[in-house]
Order: sequence, then C-alpha cells, then structure tokens
Amino acid sequence: MPDSEPLVLGIETSCDETGIGIVRGHTLLANALASSVDEHARFGGVVPEVASRAHLEAMVPTVQRALDDAGVTLADVDAIAVTAGPGLAGALLVGVAAAKGYAVAADKPLYGVNHLAAHVAVDALEHGPLPEPAIALLVSGGHSSLLLVEDLAGRVEPLGATIDDAAGEAFDKVARLLGLPFPGGPPIDRTARAGDPDAIAFPRGLTAAKDQPAHRYDFSFSGLKTAVARWVEAAGRDGVPVPVADVAASFQEAVCDVLTRKAVAACLDRGVGTLVVGGGVAANSRLRRLAEERCARAGLAVRIPRPGLCTDNGAMVAAIGAHLVAAGAAPSRLDLPADSALPLTTVVV
Ligand SMILES: Nc1ncnc2c1ncn2[C@@H]1O[C@H](COP(=O)(O)OP(=O)(O)OP(=O)(O)O)[C@@H](O)[C@H]1O
Ligand SMILES: [Mg+2]
Repeated sequence: MPDSEPLVLGIETSCDETGIGIVRGHTLLANALASSVDEHARFGGVVPEVASRAHLEAMVPTVQRALDDAGVTLADVDAIAVTAGPGLAGALLVGVAAAKGYAVAADKPLYGVNHLAAHVAVDALEHGPLPEPAIALLVSGGHSSLLLVEDLAGRVEPLGATIDDAAGEAFDKVARLLGLPFPGGPPIDRTARAGDPDAIAFPRGLTAAKDQPAHRYDFSFSGLKTAVARWVEAAGRDGVPVPVADVAASFQEAVCDVLTRKAVAACLDRGVGTLVVGGGVAANSRLRRLAEERCARAGLAVRIPRPGLCTDNGAMVAAIGAHLVAAGAAPSRLDLPADSALPLTTVVV
C-alpha cells in the first residue's frame, strides 16, 4: 500500500449513526459505527435530541475504536473530513464540533463535506475510482435524486429529485402501515422475498407520457404510499387478512421499477456509460438486482457498494475526504458551519 495516498479520518453524525471511518486513498482501513436506532424505534422515526445526545456519548470511544482497528494514531492521519450537511442540525453540530477539536488538537487540515456526495464517493472503496462522468442515483432516508457527476470533487449537476417523499421515507411509512418495525427498508426487503411483486399493480409516479417534459428525472412516492394505505384499508373493511408479503413485494417493485427506469434513461439520454447507486435504499436486494439487469440490457456499467457501505457510515466521509485531498481541494476554514440544508452542488464547504 503506497504511503503517498492520503490517510483520512471521516466523521459522520448527520442522523442516528455515529460513523468513524479511516481510509488510505481507496483502501478502507476501519469503519466503526455506533447507532442510536434502537432508541428511536419506539417513536417510529429519529428523535433529533436523542440522536444528538447519543453522538456526544459515542464520539470519543468510536474514534478510538476506528484508530485501533486501522492500527494508526491521530498523528498519522493526513486530514480529517466531517459531514457538514445536509442532516439534522443538532446531530451535525456534534460531529462538526468534534472534528474541529481533533483538527486543532492534532494540527490537521479539516474538510467539511456533503453527506450525499459521500454516499456516492464510498463506492470507490469497493470498485476503485469512479469513471467520470457518471450518473448517480442517490436514494436514502431523506433524499432521492439523479445527478450527473462530472467531477466528484466539485462539479455535480442535479438532474432530478423527488417532489414529495424520499424513497427511504416511503419504505419507512409503508412498513409502518404493514406493522413492520422501523427503519422499514430492511424488513420490507426481507418480507417481500416471500411475496409476489406482480400481485398488486401499484402506481409508478411521474412515469406517464404527460409527465415526461417537466419531470423526466423526478420522482414521486407519496401517491404510491397513499395507494398502499388505501389498499390495506380496503382489505381491513372487507375483513380480509392483509397479504403482507404480497403488498411489500408489490410496493417494493413499484419503487425499484421507477428508480431504475429513470436512472437508465438518464444514462442513455446523456450518453453516460456508468451508473452508480448510493444511499441507504441502495442496500435493497431487489433494487440491486433490477439495476444490474436493466443496465446490462442497456449496455451500461453499474456500481453499487455493498449494503453495509450504503447506509450511513464514516467510511463514506473518509472516502470523499481522500478524494478531495488527492484532487488538491483546499481545506475548509476552521469556523465552517454545519448546514442542515447544504445543497447537493456543494461538495466541500
Ligand atoms: N434493504 C433496504 N431496502 C430498502 N430501504 C432500505 C434498506 N436498508 C435501508 N433502507 C432505508 O434507507 C434509509 C436510511 O438510509 P441512509 O442511512 O442513507 O439515510 P439517511 O442518512 O437517514 O438520509 P440522508 O442520507 O438522505 O440524509 C431508511 O429509510 C431505510 O429504511
Ligand atoms: Mg444517508
């Protein structure tokens, strides 16, 4: 492993995972995670104050665990990267404040980075440098977007996004309707394996011909969520037991169909040969399979990081940090703010 590649420590606290990753260039050395997800489960969603407190408690031991796992010290690190946004304001603040403390104490350059760019950059740890340009399908708890990535260190063009719910949010809400636990993606994924994806024809938002001029690359999952709710209500009224596996499989199929169809269209329209899929929903087994099938049919290369790197983690922050250091990007100022609404186009603050 050449030591000329930057050794970067990444800190992620945008939601309910305290993630500390350490990478050297494209090589993952450590990915320590402390999650407060169990503390939120009974509320059916992430409680910001609970998440912030948990980050505070987990920060120092998780950083130490990552350093130990990687077999390095803070003094060895070339740079520190931290999620500066988007995310929960209080949760982001804990990570940014900790990163500033470590950067000042160890005299290291600090990069405040975009969480969403990090979801794309993490793929390089598994599949090597991302060919540019690439189309990125970013699907997570808070976002669903199609991006043209010309240069991951700075030039990212949003092509489209959800006009209502994010894909992960739809999974979480539909899981709740079906009596499945939070977060809803993993239990729907598991339950759907025993179901028929063609059992119920749920709507495919913004795919009609009339939607193409204005919304070719946009998504809408709110109508789908409502359709599932109506279907479940109707079954209840008729006294019929809800076929949970069929509903889960048919819902999942509708989401994955739209996501992959639009992502492939974006690649073909723009003449881009690589699709990269990132964010928590990219862990979905049906989305992964359908993306692979449809890209193969269209002659496109597809890259999807392994499921453990799709959901929030520190390695993804370290990965974009290493990419920025290698690209010669200037570090952030030490008074960098946490920005809960950081735009997709700002890769480094
Ligand atoms: N196997 C899966 N199938 C579908 N969805 C999944 C799966 N695993 C996780 N998810 C969903 O991914 C989301 C969490 O993703 P991630 O951790 O990237 O989101 P986030 O950080 O909360 O949101 P954002 O990245 O937009 O700030 C949740 O909505 C969860 O239900
Ligand atoms: Mg995320």
